[in-house]
Amino acid sequence: MNPKAHEPDSLPVPEPAALAQSEALAASLRAEIAAAGGWLPFERYMERALYAPGLGYYSGGARKFGLFAADGSDFVTAPELSPLFASTLARALAEALAASGTRALMEFGAGTGKLAAGILLALDALGVAFDSYAIVDLSGELRARQRETLEASAPHLVARVTWLDALPAQFEGVVIGNEVLDAMPVRLFARKDAVWHERGVAVNAQGAFVFSDRPAVSGGSEGCGCSEPGAHWPEGVLAGIEGRDDYVAETHDAALAFTRTVCTMLVRGAAFFIDYGFPNREFYHPQRVQGTLMCHYRHRAHDDPFLYPGLQDITAHVEFTGIAQAGIDAGADLLGYTSQARFLMNAGITDVLSEIDPGDVARFLPAANAVQKLVSESEMGELFKVIAFSRGIDGTLAAFARGDRSHTL
Ligand SMILES: C[S@@+](CC[C@H](N)C(=O)[O-])C[C@H]1O[C@@H](n2cnc3c(N)ncnc32)[C@H](O)[C@@H]1O
Repeated sequence: MNPKAHEPDSLPVPEPAALAQSEALAASLRAEIAAAGGWLPFERYMERALYAPGLGYYSGGARKFGLFAADGSDFVTAPELSPLFASTLARALAEALAASGTRALMEFGAGTGKLAAGILLALDALGVAFDSYAIVDLSGELRARQRETLEASAPHLVARVTWLDALPAQFEGVVIGNEVLDAMPVRLFARKDAVWHERGVAVNAQGAFVFSDRPAVSGGSEGCGCSEPGAHWPEGVLAGIEGRDDYVAETHDAALAFTRTVCTMLVRGAAFFIDYGFPNREFYHPQRVQGTLMCHYRHRAHDDPFLYPGLQDITAHVEFTGIAQAGIDAGADLLGYTSQARFLMNAGITDVLSEIDPGDVARFLPAANAVQKLVSESEMGELFKVIAFSRGIDGTLAAFARGDRSHTL
């Protein structure tokens, strides 16, 4: 086990087999750090902790999604919370399919497959014509779970579902990604005494992972342990963070590259991404001094990415101004940007709820509670945003007709 662990009583301790898996990942990370001269960018650590084949959080056996710590899960997402999320989102997707004259869907990071199943069932019930639903996920283990979910809940539609190993060069249709951007590795930067450093990972004398900051010095001489700012140093972003005080911030190279790739591939249709985050003015706010990096283990949020590598989720909020720019740079139009609450209300979540008989208390009450969680400002309604790109769609969609916030990006 990674020696730098939380107090044993503050978080549940994993089972021995899980700890052994975590130690295998930690050993490979220590070896990689040693081979790299003792320092690895945080982005690389996060990528391995989440996606190392067979060992990473998303590519290993962790349960991940669920409602309670007791079921071995670590966090809940909107499609896991309630099928109403998928049914409501499906209405916006149906409108985008019709507006673009396309008949294909593609979901990135499909988790347990619940969102896919819910969307397929809702489109079918709405009588929407579609030919295919492609799923792209980095995790082989999740693919198997997705197939199981789809076979159990939408057996008559599963024949239209495919799993892709590589993206097509071009795609005509509608793309969906719920909480995918936040699961992409981030770079970390720390301002200390008014000097920006790239924050990486080193190993201390006890074998524990520790943050290690390298000052960015142009033309830094060999052996100074400095990061050469170079072409990839996010000068513009860091210079825009006001003040000289100590500050930690993430940049999102992987999510930006992903958005550019998707929007380049999309030759006709729309792409919807739902996630927690803010526009850049709020994201790099002078008061957000600790950044947004967060970890989830058994439904507890904490800030130690070195705890149980491979057994806990590591995530950062999404910086939506950058995402919008990345899509536009790739040639797509910004179709809309708004809060999850506004999007779901516009798309008709209350109509979807009203299809359940209030007299059927066992069904209606949990559904109404879930709607409250999805749209309430103090729960998911305001922190979560929906951003959408399009090509070949004139005008907007009902889901962005009221309360569009594109001008705030
Ligand atoms: C936080 S989970 C969300 C799962 C699901 N969408 C939900 O809402 O329950 C993030 C998912 O994104 C996937 N993912 C991350 N980066 C990806 C990428 N570049 N392409 C496809 N899937 C990716 C992960 O494997 C994981 O399934």
